[in-house]
Amino acid sequence: MEPSGPADKLFFAQITDLHIGFEPSNPFEANQRRLDDVLALLVAMDPRPAFVLATGDLVEGGSVEDYQRLRRSFDPLPFPVYCCLGNHDKRGPFATIFPETPTFDGAVQYAIDDPALRILILDTMSEERHGGDFDDGLAAWLDAELTASPRPTVLAMHHPPTPSGIDWLTTGTDEPWVVRLRTVVDRHRATIVGILAGHYHRPMMTAWPHATIFVCPSVAPRVALDLRPMDAEHPDNRAMIVDEPPSFALHQWADGTLRSHIGTAADYTVFARHDDRTKALVARLIAERHDTASHAAA
Ligand SMILES: [Fe+2]
Ligand SMILES: [Fe+2]
Repeated sequence: MEPSGPADKLFFAQITDLHIGFEPSNPFEANQRRLDDVLALLVAMDPRPAFVLATGDLVEGGSVEDYQRLRRSFDPLPFPVYCCLGNHDKRGPFATIFPETPTFDGAVQYAIDDPALRILILDTMSEERHGGDFDDGLAAWLDAELTASPRPTVLAMHHPPTPSGIDWLTTGTDEPWVVRLRTVVDRHRATIVGILAGHYHRPMMTAWPHATIFVCPSVAPRVALDLRPMDAEHPDNRAMIVDEPPSFALHQWADGTLRSHIGTAADYTVFARHDDRTKALVARLIAERHDTASHAAA
């Protein structure tokens, strides 16, 4: 896939864990409204993202009907949406409704060759488990892609290959699929700008020794922030899923740096605006930045 744009910068969005079809018989379900709110915000944005990465758990149950609903949300958008699969997705029904998405050996794994930044979509989904998977064939594809092109590259996948610290939704450091992925990433450290993931339903950043991992918060309700250990045999009534606002991320690639912002689709009270009251402050802050630049040049 080859989008066209400037060769030195790129602005794109990420959404994750949409879980459309959580209420299969209700087309106005909360998760659909949450997605509608996020997409409306991205469409109205100025500047507008060049494309959206949707990093898995696109739907809840993996039925053809779920993906039809999703397609109805994506089709009218003024930018492309590039999909990854997560543990709630199903390859067959996804391919039925999104047949144009490239695959490798049956997996939804492909390259987005933007002129400024290469994005490799990886398929970490397993039909058998909630956690990730990444077999030898997929690892060999990744190794070959990274070897073939030395351009700055972002890896996008559903499962973060690193623990969350949240006992019931995490990844083991030495799970075989993590070791397989880590081995390839480590070989191409100079090429990989960062890893964008989802699955944990919370914003999170990990300074992994091999690459920075950014976990985008979910469109669907969030996982509660509770870092205490859990005893599987003795429920303690703690919160697990909470109604924090639907979220998204914006990624700016410029000057050889990837900057990632998190936003939420929610109504906020505005405490300050750029008006006559803040005019002097804004002018001073901008002038100060230019002063610093001239000092550095002197
Ligand atoms: Fe999810
Ligand atoms: Fe997931």
